[in-house]
Amino acid sequence: MIPQDFIQTLLNRVDIVDVIDRRVPLKKAGANFQACCPFHNEKSPSFTVSPSKQFYHCFGCGAHGTAIGFLMEYAGLGYVDAIKELASQSGMTVPEGAAPDPQRVQQVASLVELMQRAAQYYRQQLKLAPVAIDYLKKRGLTGEIAARFGLGYAPSGWQNLQAVFDHYDDTALVEGGLVIVNDAGKRYDRFRERIMFPIVGLKGDVIGFGGRVLDSGEPKYLNSPETPLFQKGHELYGLFQARRAIRDAGRALVVEGYMDVVALAQHGVDYAVATLGTATTPNHLQKLLRHTDEVVFCFDGDSAGQRAAWRALENSLAMLTDSCRVGFLFLPAQHDPDSYIREHGKAGFEVLLSQQIVPLSSYLAKELAAQHDLTASEGKSAFLKAAQPLLSQVSAPGLALMLRKRIAELAGIQQNELETLWKIEFQRKRPANTPLRTPRPAPVSNYRRMLRALLFQPALARELNNALLTLTHPDASALQGVIELLQQHPHLETAAVVEHFRNSALMPQLQQASSEIMVWADDFDAAAEFALAREQIDTEQHNLRTANVASKSLSTLTEAEKMELQQLSRRKVRTEK
Ligand code: GTP
Ligand code: MN
Repeated sequence: MIPQDFIQTLLNRVDIVDVIDRRVPLKKAGANFQACCPFHNEKSPSFTVSPSKQFYHCFGCGAHGTAIGFLMEYAGLGYVDAIKELASQSGMTVPEGAAPDPQRVQQVASLVELMQRAAQYYRQQLKLAPVAIDYLKKRGLTGEIAARFGLGYAPSGWQNLQAVFDHYDDTALVEGGLVIVNDAGKRYDRFRERIMFPIVGLKGDVIGFGGRVLDSGEPKYLNSPETPLFQKGHELYGLFQARRAIRDAGRALVVEGYMDVVALAQHGVDYAVATLGTATTPNHLQKLLRHTDEVVFCFDGDSAGQRAAWRALENSLAMLTDSCRVGFLFLPAQHDPDSYIREHGKAGFEVLLSQQIVPLSSYLAKELAAQHDLTASEGKSAFLKAAQPLLSQVSAPGLALMLRKRIAELAGIQQNELETLWKIEFQRKRPANTPLRTPRPAPVSNYRRMLRALLFQPALARELNNALLTLTHPDASALQGVIELLQQHPHLETAAVVEHFRNSALMPQLQQASSEIMVWADDFDAAAEFALAREQIDTEQHNLRTANVASKSLSTLTEAEKMELQQLSRRKVRTEK
């Protein structure tokens, strides 16, 4: 592990403006610097780099991070390599193997190492296995593509990994999904006699595997189980390799299989990724939309492909924006992307892409229309009823409007009639006095206000004593984490604080809060904001306790509770004055 203090020193030494400007030329804009965002396509610059906060932030796509994060995202480096790169730019050497870190980080790091070693073993074994090489050749793959995707082979035999790892009974092997323990306590390799597809996470580490049988065994594909490194609903096979190409092509293609991704790349269509034997999740789409504005789902022409496409549509609705394009490409019934590109080549495949993409809006309307008899009033009303829950998920205002127009048209009614109809339904469901439909952003909790102020000015942590708060609110755990970190390392600055949580479950809250402070001017009075939020938390908690004690009848109160009640009410009078 790289020591915390080194990361702080490094982030002090480098200037994020220089780091980014070398790769994406920046222009001064007020106190900040700007450019067109390298992480999504745009014509006017919304990518902002703050020299005072040492963050980059894109107000268009939400990309956000430190200099380390930028190198990881932009140059596709792993965490450690990004740090090494920054260090070498500023003449520093990364110290190796010092300072123990929290247990979880350690556990994840050691799992990453195990996976890496296993991947290396499987790659070596492929070279030694003519049957496996022949299989890949038969499927039209060259050695170069096999190497690009790190393909390997798990030979036959139940405990081959015993020769790879010193301790075959290490529970980490089970945790990483490489070894299975049966009911009798016997351990054996999960992957045997399979072509191995390593699944690479966004940091460039192997986080899981897919293994395919050579001939017709069952199951055809075996995937790693969910592990601390690997969650299927979050990962896309091939994304790490495809990131550059996605940016260059301006689109990402989502296919169903490992082999589809690899075969497409073999023929020069290198901007494809695959879900891992699961439906497309909102998280998948969100991840892709950070790299490009256009996502095309490419499914087999059979009925399973149709079902998968509809699932993908349902899971996409909430993530759509008015500037993204999501479309569907249906292949002829007997084809998947692998077989299609082998038969028709890159050119043939790209003809399909240029002529046959069905925009999500058209697919939605067509599919719903096909399911109902739009010549009868009953069919039309059922059609409207089916459309409503789908459309209500679309928060992109322009797209939602266009969809309502289209649905009204298909049902043979006016757009305002449709809106009246649906609003009546909304009104019936919602309690009195809540505004119509417009989803309001969740109110910012006082904990988040404190967190933001603390990130803006980490020195504020010095004014806290330990008797701070009873932290039961969900927003509070991030605040708590930052306070604890700053109590141990009082000199950390914002970017280093956020970096510390890179592998932590609290990272989303920290990303969110640090994005929000991007718009704060450098002379923002964070101390006042911090104090105010804290006072409000105190008051909230005080009122809660008062209500709690006061709800008990006087005769059941203990002496201590009676005293507390007296004190509490005295204080309440004071604060109300
Ligand atoms: P090839 O036959 O090698 O061309 O594979 P394919 O990608 O065409 O396979 P298919 O369309 O049958 O499956 C698509 C994806 O679903 C695969 O890449 C796997 O991720 C997943 N999958 C397929 N079969 C299985 C299986 O038996 N078990 C599991 N867990 N996943 C599977
Ligand atoms: Mn196939």
